[in-house]
Amino acid sequence: MAYIPSSSRYDSMTYNRCGNSGLLLPALSLGLWHNFGGVDDFKNARRIVRHAFDKGITHFDLANNYGPPPGSAEENFGAMLKKDFSGNLRDELIISTKAGYIMWPGPYGNWGSRKYLVSSLDQSLKRMRLNYVDIFYSHRPDPETPLEETMMALHDIVKSGKALYAGISNYKAPEAKRALQILKDLGTPCLIHQPKYSMFERWVEDGLLNVLEEYGVGCIPFSPLAQGLLTDRYLKGVPEGSRASKEHGFLKTNDITPEKLEKIQKLNDIAKRRKQSLAQMALSWLLKDKRITTVLIGVSSVEQLDNNLACLKNRLFSSEELNEIEVILKA
Ligand SMILES: NC(=O)c1ccc[n+]([C@@H]2O[C@H](COP(=O)([O-])OP(=O)(O)OC[C@H]3O[C@@H](n4cnc5c(N)ncnc54)[C@H](OP(=O)(O)O)[C@@H]3O)[C@@H](O)[C@H]2O)c1
Repeated sequence: MAYIPSSSRYDSMTYNRCGNSGLLLPALSLGLWHNFGGVDDFKNARRIVRHAFDKGITHFDLANNYGPPPGSAEENFGAMLKKDFSGNLRDELIISTKAGYIMWPGPYGNWGSRKYLVSSLDQSLKRMRLNYVDIFYSHRPDPETPLEETMMALHDIVKSGKALYAGISNYKAPEAKRALQILKDLGTPCLIHQPKYSMFERWVEDGLLNVLEEYGVGCIPFSPLAQGLLTDRYLKGVPEGSRASKEHGFLKTNDITPEKLEKIQKLNDIAKRRKQSLAQMALSWLLKDKRITTVLIGVSSVEQLDNNLACLKNRLFSSEELNEIEVILKA
């Protein structure tokens, strides 16, 4: 059946300004790393994307290598765009992609050279059947390529019109600062940084968030639910179909340690008291910091998406709750 987006799609979402830019992003964004590849159920993936848009999620995050197989998430998303988001609907979407991890064999299909970034974006645009993406990222810093070359490639890509904004991902505070300064000097200010950040992974608090604030750059934390650990998914074992149960899933069963489970259980108790699911509390906990523009979630079902969206209804924490959470996380 033809998709007609909900007329109330902008009624309940919060949109936050991305750093000092003109761009507003929804408080929750949807990532297509898992559950949208060639190995996954296309109908389910399409249902999730439609539902996300109906709920005001305008930002969809991809990368050249998302699948498996690599590239297939972009191909599937391209098919959805063609079927469901034709015409002017493209102008209601913020689509991002990245290059930085291994994508094709040989010396030009990995890391951060100008050669790789420019040709990878061309491939991504073909797979998604797009003329441009909204945000193009250097997916990770390359220790062997001069930072100037990688940033100049981002700058030229933006100048070419194949991306509207430039972003960086997985750059630690000192190298992020250098990258942001280079981009600023080139006249293409960095829009956004995409780091891994959750209750279980907090390195961004040791400097990166301050650098982003100083440069007026937005922040979009990925894996905010620690790939599903910060939910009730694994409280009673490893369910069939969960990320940890899948051979190609990046969450491994040995990541689910008894120590982690004890913390998850205690956090779940606090969430219950707040009348939230643990997933909702983990997302609200990130969004309480004004430096966080949008939180980049993954989901395997429409139900999970709805559950996560409800985090927006309760973003306030008492100082007692924050202290209690801190004690659990630092134990
Ligand atoms: N820049 C980078 O290097 C980088 C790296 C990784 C990811 N990312 C981006 O970040 C996005 C999100 O990463 P992620 O998928 O790891 O995020 P996540 O939100 O931490 O984990 C998503 C998983 O958590 C589970 N889940 C979500 N909501 C739930 C709920 N309400 N109740 C129970 N379980 C729930 C689902 O697991 P099941 O599948 O088991 O149901 C889901 O697949 C990616 O899609 C990608 O766009 C970027």
